[in-house]
Amino acid sequence: MPEILVIAGDGVGPEVTREAVETLKVADKIHKIGFHFGEALAGGVAIDATGRPLPDETLEKARKADAVLLGAVGGPKWDDVPHDRRPERALLGLREKLGLYANLRPARIFESLLKSSPLKPEVARGADLLIVRELTGGIYFGKPKGIEILGDGSERGVNSMVYTTGEIERIARKAFDLARRRRKLVHSVDKANVLEVMELWRRTVIAVSKDYPDVTLRHMYVDNCSMQLIRDPRQFDVIVTGNLFGDILSDEAAMITGSIGMLPSASLGERGGLYEPVHGSAPDIAGQDKANPLAAILSAAMMLRFTFGRENAAALIEAAVDRVLDSGARTADIARAGDEVIGTHAMGERVRSAMKV
Ligand code: IPM
Ligand code: MG
Repeated sequence: MPEILVIAGDGVGPEVTREAVETLKVADKIHKIGFHFGEALAGGVAIDATGRPLPDETLEKARKADAVLLGAVGGPKWDDVPHDRRPERALLGLREKLGLYANLRPARIFESLLKSSPLKPEVARGADLLIVRELTGGIYFGKPKGIEILGDGSERGVNSMVYTTGEIERIARKAFDLARRRRKLVHSVDKANVLEVMELWRRTVIAVSKDYPDVTLRHMYVDNCSMQLIRDPRQFDVIVTGNLFGDILSDEAAMITGSIGMLPSASLGERGGLYEPVHGSAPDIAGQDKANPLAAILSAAMMLRFTFGRENAAALIEAAVDRVLDSGARTADIARAGDEVIGTHAMGERVRSAMKV
């Protein structure tokens, strides 16, 4: 029986994952998949319950599950917790321990939300790109790292951007494979003009590209890419990049669409996968039925596609979301003056009824 582990986490995490799970249940009923759902703690709630952001029990359950659906972790309550015990460590630990090296962050503009984009409609219209971010290497995990006290009492902090050929090859392959299912264009984003590690990145991506003659490869420096994303986002299809650059560029790409509340993500490895909305825990609106559940629901659709190979079920959810947005339904984050605003649960219900018609 396919097993989904739900890690609701902190802030709005529980509300949005609840809607995603209910939506998965409807897809399950229609497509007769037979999902089983488990639950586990991570993030701030896990710190409160066990003293640790990622309890061993959660990691064990995540290893056994076929896929993990995660809400969000973190909040002001845990801001003063030491670095190695912060709620965010749960995410980094899950990525590392489950070997989830490929982070897929699609940013697609919904025609009906075009006015929510801070970009001019003629610039944003039709933008549909996928950031493939390396997730278990680079400066997030490289060694040496740490803060040391020098002889004169001052301090020295260090992190290291490290990539091996193997790490670059597998993320490049992932990007090329995904591009084959899209418009067959890959932009590899690096800083090869300055950093040796990125010179290796570029060389290795070029070597991998030889196996994908049907996919066009272009190279772009990260500073230029941050500019091009705003200037002309439609020039991009798949962007493949390292951990830190991908972290930054994916937030930027999110804004093209006007609402981070809409953006799903998938983190994939050799097996399994972790699916989560890109938005954070939004503690200011937690527990008030105000959060937009669409990012979580669209993350569930990605799970159906990438872990379970259920393209039809994924497309059913995505089409329902499109239809609901076209009908004018809006949560507060995507509403404009005059729109009728509905809550988290009502938005989930609208999506589920749109799946049944
Ligand atoms: C993200 C977040 C995380 C990251 C944090 C919360 C550790 O910003 O998923 O983009 O930096 O990867
Ligand atoms: Mg980020």
